[in-house]
Amino acid sequence: MRRVSSEKIRVGVAGAAGRMGQTVCAAVEGADDLVLAARADPALGTALEDVLGDVDVVVDFTRPDTAAANVVACVQSGVHVVVGTSGWDVTVAEGLDGANVLFCPNFAIGAVLMMRFAAEASRHMTKAEIIELHHDQKLDAPSGTAKRTAELMQGDVPVHSVRLPGLVAHQEVILGGLGETLTIRHDSLSRESFMPGVLLAVRKVAGLERSPVVGLEHVLFEDA
Ligand SMILES: NC(=O)c1ccc[n+]([C@@H]2O[C@H](COP(=O)([O-])OP(=O)(O)OC[C@H]3O[C@@H](n4cnc5c(N)ncnc54)[C@H](O)[C@@H]3O)[C@@H](O)[C@H]2O)c1
Repeated sequence: MRRVSSEKIRVGVAGAAGRMGQTVCAAVEGADDLVLAARADPALGTALEDVLGDVDVVVDFTRPDTAAANVVACVQSGVHVVVGTSGWDVTVAEGLDGANVLFCPNFAIGAVLMMRFAAEASRHMTKAEIIELHHDQKLDAPSGTAKRTAELMQGDVPVHSVRLPGLVAHQEVILGGLGETLTIRHDSLSRESFMPGVLLAVRKVAGLERSPVVGLEHVLFEDA
């Protein structure tokens, strides 16, 4: 398996002209141990395939209909890939050899904690519903985070989606019991909220012992 060198990690960003991609480019440029080696995006006239020889890790924030092909292209070129794009089929990455795939439905540390607390709470309060709220440009509903939260919880957890201008990414998990409710809420107030998690994933993806791995919790918590 291709390892990243002990030098700076060379990062390519797929979807570099997009809202998340631009924020990732700035975060990578601001990190001492990383180098922004490539910006790939049809909007910039640069195809991902053309930059794969120049990078150790690709970060993909593209579209649900392009992420799977990008992941396959990266792994076949021996390039590790960190995926933030939601709504793609991660089973495409199963059985692929040559590099690692780390897909994180949500890179915000607080959102990962919300999912963990919701899973714990649902062991004791089994009736629950999720409300996820996002900006109105988001293509998929329900959000990857809401689907993942529901998977981690006990029982059947309905998800409600709200799409409105002005929102970024927000989620409430409401659990109901006898004469009480518990609400666990997370708010991403800006796209910067995802960057500490993205940089952590970039640093850890080469060292994964299996692939694909789904969820930032696997590189954030020792017991995940
Ligand atoms: N995991 C997380 O924490 C997290 C957080 C926020 C957003 N997201 C997800 O990230 C994705 C991107 O969101 P956004 O708001 O930045 O979208 P966006 O529409 O602003 O940007 C997407 C970019 O991808 C480019 N693109 C399309 N096809 C491409 C290809 N084949 N190769 C390279 N680039 C390509 C587009 O030209 C565009 O610039 C969405 O799926 C969104 O749900 C995930």
